[in-house]
Amino acid sequence: MARSALLNVMVQAALKAGKSLSRDFGEVQNLQVSVKGPGDFVSQADFKAQKIIHDELLKARPTYGFLGEEAEEIKGTDGAHRWIVDPLDGTTNFLHGIPMFSVSIALERNSEIVAGVIFNPATDELYTAERGGGAFLNDRRLRVASRRVLSDCVIGCGVPHLGRGNHGKFLVELRHVMGEVAGIRRMGSAALDLAYVAAGRFDGFWETALSPWDMAAGILLVREAGGFVSDLDSGTDMLSTGSIICGNEHIHKALVEVVKRPVPTK
Ligand code: IPD
Ligand code: CA
Ligand code: CA
Repeated sequence: MARSALLNVMVQAALKAGKSLSRDFGEVQNLQVSVKGPGDFVSQADFKAQKIIHDELLKARPTYGFLGEEAEEIKGTDGAHRWIVDPLDGTTNFLHGIPMFSVSIALERNSEIVAGVIFNPATDELYTAERGGGAFLNDRRLRVASRRVLSDCVIGCGVPHLGRGNHGKFLVELRHVMGEVAGIRRMGSAALDLAYVAAGRFDGFWETALSPWDMAAGILLVREAGGFVSDLDSGTDMLSTGSIICGNEHIHKALVEVVKRPVPTK
């Protein structure tokens, strides 16, 4: 698998940030966190990881814009290119010592995502994709799952929680999906959920109220693994609407129909 110079820069940044997160995760697991408490320690880990990624990426391409979760967007002098970064996706898992979190880095060119990297430091799984070049897990080429009927499928989702999302609307969606599928999973890292769809581990995934950095790299991974991705209205404006739904061609279509099924009247 030949990686472009740009993808290599992204991979190096993700691995370096992942190393820093792994060290801090070890401390969280051992509860050796500062007196300020684990929440504060985790935000420090998050900021540190974003700074590492920012420095690595801007060293390689100083003119590109940078949109990362942990700081104000930096508009680059090169109006065509922008990095979209979540230094730690799955913060709640990280805080609770659950080894399911990731670094997510995407490159946008003229509003199209052209490269994406998602790295889970806890499992050493590195997902990469370049537009037109396929999607990979470490060195293995990825393909979305080929199941054709929802009743065979494991579907990932996001679950709203205290202060987040539309609880009533989600319960209606869940009620409809749970009656049709073999299993539902909530992993807590949207980037990894999308990587799992690309890897054929999940047959599909849907979530709403996400941010661009949760999805950008994962969208390309799913597409490059042969999957279909849209927002919940079947448009392709996931980064602005914050909603996403995906799977192979058949499962994407079926899942859209079920998730969007109207609220029952009785
Ligand atoms: C969160 C994760 C989670 C999703 C949330 C996101 P964070 O990102 O992706 O799976 O359900 O909506 O905010 O806060 O851990 O970077
Ligand atoms: Ca996130
Ligand atoms: Ca984050």
